[in-house]
This record gives sequence, structure tokens and C-alpha cells, in this order.
Amino acid sequence: MIKDFIDIREFSAAQLSGLLDRAIADKKLFSQGRLPATLDRKTLAMIFEKPSLRTRVSFESAMTQLGGHAIYLSQSDIGLGSREAVQDIARTLSRMCNGIMARTFRHDLVEQLARHAAVPVINGLTDFSHPCQAMADLMTVRELLGDLKGKTIVFVGDGNNVARSLAGACLMLGARFILACPSGYELNDAFMEKLMAGNPHADCATSHNPCEAVAGADVIYTDTWVSMGQEDQRQKRINDFEDFQINSDLMAKAPKNAIVLHCLPAYRGFEISEEVFEAHAEAIFRQAENRLHFQRTLLAVLIGEGGIK
Ligand code: CP
Ligand code: NVA
Repeated sequence: MIKDFIDIREFSAAQLSGLLDRAIADKKLFSQGRLPATLDRKTLAMIFEKPSLRTRVSFESAMTQLGGHAIYLSQSDIGLGSREAVQDIARTLSRMCNGIMARTFRHDLVEQLARHAAVPVINGLTDFSHPCQAMADLMTVRELLGDLKGKTIVFVGDGNNVARSLAGACLMLGARFILACPSGYELNDAFMEKLMAGNPHADCATSHNPCEAVAGADVIYTDTWVSMGQEDQRQKRINDFEDFQINSDLMAKAPKNAIVLHCLPAYRGFEISEEVFEAHAEAIFRQAENRLHFQRTLLAVLIGEGGIK
């Protein structure tokens, strides 16, 4: 049993696809009013060092829908690692709550929480990764396009936390992943090397030409050029990424039926044009909604069933 949900690499393809199958089935049961409230009187502590709309609301709503409760803890409330040591926060919350979700700058803070907590710890985004987002994304692709095997997902933008987790999830589940980014923004870190080494069928490429990269895309994906914590690099990034906007010109190079996804929040006129965003809003907001459905299943499995088998 795996107690926490921190990193896509910790799971097998069977575990990840099992979670997606279960989330899709639970979404249906929920819509029929038949999903059991398995977290009655259970509490999730939610630690946020960074702002959030989707992550906070989806985890909080998911706990309510399962009969439990969530507590929002901002950095100014608890001082993770400043007012109080991470291990002491982990041990205290383990005695009062049944799970911890954390959004931090440093990835190792979430790992430390997991090491010291007796209850499940979920990564709600770090500078390094955003695994819940990647699972909701692939749930959306499964719903809209069917089997992930052989599908090509082209991420146009920064090789960031969202791209890293999406790449990991794609490679584990048999989808082809292409990152189209300016030089200097690649995903050429140890994460990808390890992932490729452990998975001989992994199909992953990097391109510096977005028009060529989208030519065979089933999914075209983007995220902000300026992630939380990178505000001081804003102008440089806007300059570096100017040829990497998803707009009508780029879409004209892609297959007609390609879908567009965005993890949100979106910055229209930067990584995506208003026109393309609105034309694909149905898929993009389904993707946002699936954060709720995936995480509700994840909470039921981690808190209600003791972990991922
Ligand atoms: N996609 C996502 O994680 O959104 P929030 O930052 O609003 O939580
Ligand atoms: N890459 C973005 C994702 C926001 C959900 C960030 O880290 O700010």
C-alpha cells in the first residue's frame, strides 16, 4: 500500500490507470447520487504556501461530498518551517486530522510532511510537480478521446511543474509526450531521465518549433509562462515565449480535431489567445471539473481505504 500521493514516479502503470478507471466510475456514481459518503467525520488539513482556486475548492468540495470536512491553513496561519518545524506540524496534524494536502514552493517540504505524518499526504502542487493536475488531465483525455495508448499530447510552453507531471503520467500510461518550448526551458532533468530509464516504451520528445510539434497532436496543452514564484522573471519569460502562444495560426498547423487543454489560471493574450481559449472552453472547464472528481476518488482511496494498492 502506498500511503501518500506525492510523485507520479512512485506508482505503476496499473496503479495509475486503476485510479483513473475508478475516478471515471465514481464520477458517474456521484452524478447518480449513488456514491457512498465514506469519509464521514474525517478531516483533511490543507496547507497553502501559494494561492489557489481549483485546488482549494476541489479538495474542500470533495471532502464535503464524501461526508467529511476540510480545513484551510495558509502560510501566514501556520508558518510551515518558520513558526513551527515541518515534522512537528506533520505530527500534530496526524493526531487531529485524517489527511494532509499541501501546496508548497519547495518539493522537499511535501516529502518531509509525508515522512513525518502518520496520515496520507497529497501533493497539491510544488515548484517541482503537480500530480493531481496530471491525473485530472488524463482523465479528461480518456473521457474525450478514449484509450490513452498511442495518443500524442503536445505541451506548448514552459517545462515546468505541470509539464513534468503530465510527461510522467503520459509516459506511464502509454501516451506520446512532446514538449515544445524555447531553448533553455526543456524538461531535461533527472526526473525525465529516471522515468525513461524505468520505462523502455516511453515516448517523449522535445521540440523548439511549435508548428512542427503540433502537426500530429491529439491534445495541445499549455500553462502560464510565469509560474507562482517566478514573478521577477516575468518580462524575460514573456519575451522568450512570444513564439509559443496557442493561437489560430498554430491551430491551423494541427489536426482539425485536436483538443486544447489548459490547467488554469489562463492568461489570455500570452500563452493562449482569447479566440482559441473560448473555442475550447468546454474541454478546458471539464478538465478543471475533473480535479474534483479525480481527487474525490483519491481521498476515498487514501483516507478511506488506507492507501493505493
Ligand atoms: N490548476 C490549478 O492548480 O489551479 P489553482 O492554482 O487555482 O489551484
Ligand atoms: N505552473 C503553474 C501552475 C498553476 C496551477 C504554477 O506553478 O504557478
